[in-house]
Amino acid sequence: MADQYQDDHSLFPVPARLLDPAQCPKPFVSSLDQYKKMYRQSIDNPEEFFGKLANELLTWSKPFHTVRHGGLEHGDVAWFLEGELNACYNCVDRHALTDPNKVAIIYEADEPNQAERITYGELLRKVCQLAGVLRAHGIRKGDTVAIYMPMIPEAVVALLACARVGALHSVIFAGFSAEALRDRVHDASSRLVLTTDQGKRGGKTIETKRIVDEALKTCPKVETVIVCQRTGAEVPMKDGRDYWWGDEVFKHPFYTPAEDINSEDPMFLLYTSGSTGSPKGVMHTTGGYMLGAAATFKYVFDYHPGDIFACMADVGWITGHTYIVYGPLALGATTVLFESLPTYPTPSRYWELIAEHKITQFYTAPTAIRALRRLGDEWLEGHDLSSLRIIGTVGEPINPEAWHWYNEKVGKGRCAVVDTYWQTETGSHIITPLPGAITTKPGSATFPFFGIDIAILDPVTGKELVGNDVTGVLAVKRPWPSMARTIYNNHYRFMETYLKPYAGYYFTGDGATRDKDGYIWVRGRVDDVINVSGHRLSTAEIESALIMHHSVAETAVVGAPDDVTGQSINAFVCLKPGVPVYSMDLTRELISQVRKVIGPFAAPKKVYLVEDLPKTRSGKLMRRILRKIVAGESDSLGDISTLADPSVVEALINKVNPPP
Ligand code: WT7
Repeated sequence: MADQYQDDHSLFPVPARLLDPAQCPKPFVSSLDQYKKMYRQSIDNPEEFFGKLANELLTWSKPFHTVRHGGLEHGDVAWFLEGELNACYNCVDRHALTDPNKVAIIYEADEPNQAERITYGELLRKVCQLAGVLRAHGIRKGDTVAIYMPMIPEAVVALLACARVGALHSVIFAGFSAEALRDRVHDASSRLVLTTDQGKRGGKTIETKRIVDEALKTCPKVETVIVCQRTGAEVPMKDGRDYWWGDEVFKHPFYTPAEDINSEDPMFLLYTSGSTGSPKGVMHTTGGYMLGAAATFKYVFDYHPGDIFACMADVGWITGHTYIVYGPLALGATTVLFESLPTYPTPSRYWELIAEHKITQFYTAPTAIRALRRLGDEWLEGHDLSSLRIIGTVGEPINPEAWHWYNEKVGKGRCAVVDTYWQTETGSHIITPLPGAITTKPGSATFPFFGIDIAILDPVTGKELVGNDVTGVLAVKRPWPSMARTIYNNHYRFMETYLKPYAGYYFTGDGATRDKDGYIWVRGRVDDVINVSGHRLSTAEIESALIMHHSVAETAVVGAPDDVTGQSINAFVCLKPGVPVYSMDLTRELISQVRKVIGPFAAPKKVYLVEDLPKTRSGKLMRRILRKIVAGESDSLGDISTLADPSVVEALINKVNPPP
């Protein structure tokens, strides 16, 4: 089964430079043997391994006694019981107290040459003031606070201030529409929203406050909106509900203590799409999440003091949470906050950023790499990228062409490339190379991180496929500290989605191969989740957005392979009787419908208006057939005899690939 994939098995050993003490700090894990030894310890004795690591990397206000409790079978996982720690104290105070002038955040604004630096000392003052604002507006431990903000330092301050008072932040990516925002604010019962007047991205303005106003029309529970000024534009302010951030923070002192938080107290919610139903509020707890963030930041990015770390994600996604904010700040690193786009104002922006700030670790998504590769190598010329030591990717499988380009043109063959596999639910990396230890293969996330016991299962029988050269669904056999604990207000759904499909295992929803050498290749989702430019979308969500349109009778959404975005959204739409089929306006309307209900990033690339969808005699939609057709694989549709009307297929093929 494994050889249906064209994998690139060329081997890339750790670059010699990384192991030369004259050129680079010694990697924490600097040989395959050392990795294997540590991995063994983490699996054979997780209590000892993670207990030690938790005390080494985090500061606890009250020690834990029980390292681990519960398991995957019952869905009652808990780590570092009895222990208390505050995530904000770990990310800010302890560094501000010892080294207040160290730069915590380099804010690279949308327009070039406007970078600002925020020290740990300043960060502590800002966070304390905002914590004061939250408390003054009635926010207490356990409350949820919605954050709808662009990539400005105050967004980081917002997350940390919530953590300081023990409130759960629920960050909603500022690309989501008013309706999507409303659903998330509502589901989490947030009473307070933090936002800005506007946002800036790639020279364009994002109307954050206007979108918040629209969303809150139907969220009666929200009592307070705190508005930070990003552009200074005039925006409507609702009396008694809306307050200016600037006015509010001035009322509060520069220091206020951090709340004592139990290790298993919830830390944040982050909504993500599943294969069915509404978005899920994935919930992470404090001790385990913080340890996952800190440990992977240390070992996968091999963080050493003096490094300048840059993750290009948005704080609205888990990558931003873990690798812009919590991982780097937990270890007292300098983290780059990038407000703009890789192509703004020119496709040299990333390379200018690296050269200007002497970035040592750079982390981005395959989709950005593919887009920049397409635009031509000339954009890289003349930029000094010699500060780089480790370059990483995340979000989707990386194709070998993009991997090679990244390694050669960006890494100049002298950096370690880390293809990191993980999910919102895993909290931190779970399969990834360690830069000083692992020989990589382009497109493989290689080996599990410490404590991650990987299993590849037969999708039908659920039996574990042992040994090498196997393909199946990717699962994890035992709990790890940073795994999500539940879905907000819906533990039943948590169990059904992750722990019940294969009893005793955490089910990732991805397919994977373990090749002849034991390397793991993640193949992509096996459920109805589409990955567009690293954004996770559910087909069901897009379908329900389309069906709200008055002309639509029925619809089916599938992902098609795409050279730049990985997958693209293709929608098949059956119209109600009497609606004329050949209408460009209607296609446009349907696309804007999805933009409105979910957000611009969910807009279908193609909309096919069709007479019929492929269904079985019992009325079940056969998505597999649609997936094959949009992938240009109509000649290998497999068995279509179970279709109620096999002639539908012919019509669909002609629609997608019209005969010349
Ligand atoms: C899904 C999780 C975790 C950060 C960003 C996305 C896919 C993620 C990789 C990788 C192959 C990957 C998977 C996963 N994915 N990283 N290195 N190789 N696939 O987080 O939105 O929770 O999406 O992204 O399909 O299940 P997310």
